[in-house]
Amino acid sequence: MQSEYSQRREALMAKIGKGTAIFHSAPVAVMHNDVEYNFRQDSDFFYLTGFNEPHAVAVLAPHHEEHRFILFVQPKDPDKETWTGYRVGVDAAKEQFGADAVYPISELDEKLPQYVEKADRIFYRIGRDRTFNEKILALWQRLLQTYPRKGIGPTAIEDPTTVLHPLRLLKSEAEIALMRQAAEIAAEAHNRAIAFARPGCFEYQVQAEIEHTFRLRGAEGPAYPSIVASGPNACILHYTANTRQIQANDLLLIDAGCAYRYYNSDITRTFPVSGQFTAEQKILYEIVLRAQLEAIAQVQPGNPYSKMHETAVSVIVDGLLDLGLLQGDKEEIFKEEKYKPFYMHRTGHWLGLDVHDVGVYAHGDTPHNFEPGQVTTVEPGIYIKPDFKPAEGQPEVDERWRGIGIRIEDDVLVTSAGHEVLTAAVPKEF
Ligand code: GLY
Ligand code: MN
Ligand code: MN
Repeated sequence: MQSEYSQRREALMAKIGKGTAIFHSAPVAVMHNDVEYNFRQDSDFFYLTGFNEPHAVAVLAPHHEEHRFILFVQPKDPDKETWTGYRVGVDAAKEQFGADAVYPISELDEKLPQYVEKADRIFYRIGRDRTFNEKILALWQRLLQTYPRKGIGPTAIEDPTTVLHPLRLLKSEAEIALMRQAAEIAAEAHNRAIAFARPGCFEYQVQAEIEHTFRLRGAEGPAYPSIVASGPNACILHYTANTRQIQANDLLLIDAGCAYRYYNSDITRTFPVSGQFTAEQKILYEIVLRAQLEAIAQVQPGNPYSKMHETAVSVIVDGLLDLGLLQGDKEEIFKEEKYKPFYMHRTGHWLGLDVHDVGVYAHGDTPHNFEPGQVTTVEPGIYIKPDFKPAEGQPEVDERWRGIGIRIEDDVLVTSAGHEVLTAAVPKEF
């Protein structure tokens, strides 16, 4: 795996020329008072280093005579480690993470300037850590002041993610193997939940089934707060309270994925808990399923990303027009987005180290075309809240359609031959 991280650093360094790139570790998040969440490294930092500790800085200085990859880390401290766990420390970090130089983080102010003063640009993304932003800006300001006498130094700050995120968007074989594992574990969790769920149980009990499987199979845990939404709760896109008792004839929408060695899966299934759809549920489910299958068919190398959304919307609008839930001219419904009260979100997003992974979806007016190695979700839905309000000029929706929410979501890898659905092991026909 070390060679994988080193290849990523080389790929980035090849693109930054005489610049110096600086990355800060993720902040430590507080759960309450003095209790912290488990640490989760910033995805860019992790992608380039594999180093999973807080209070760290990574520097890439391809132009530097001696050191091209520099790490600043927490030093070993046996007393502190007794409380919060082992640290890699300065000496081992050099060996284990392949850095040319490693310093204790306390030496950052003293050691960082030598890696920046001869760079022509600083690649640093202004982030949420204001103190660290200030530190970088102050260093740059000092170097700007000495620039006239030296005739060398950084004259711009650039966002490194415009070069880094296109690299992250294309997954390597090693990354795809981890994503397959994340998909397989989540698929097993969904299958177990589908078998377990029945009228009378609480949404949180179904959540427990899912998250039990995540940990049992070695995943770090949920990739995002698991959504177990029965009946009308399915119309709330990010419903995470999971407190309701499931009723007979409910649909159950489960949107849950896991993080496996930092890579995420993201699956949604909607099914009748009593084993049988009502007539209305069945009709709407068939529309969403058709929309999803036709959208998945658009995930092909060379196809614009936006095509799958257009396809899903087209199938959904046709379906709703047939039912009389939408009325009028299809073109106009499209143009004026009159379908939005039923379907208000996009059909997918990139997936990887982040659940909503990095990478652009368009380049200004030029579409982004799929390439092998990219992973997207495909997740159309129809949502008719109990208090549904139609778009202007559209008909009121009859009571029998209300309280139904449906989404179907798979994780799809673009391959040279077309695509592969990584989450195909969970059924979609009920
Ligand atoms: N579960 C978040 C999403 O589907 O995007
Ligand atoms: Mn999801
Ligand atoms: Mn998703």
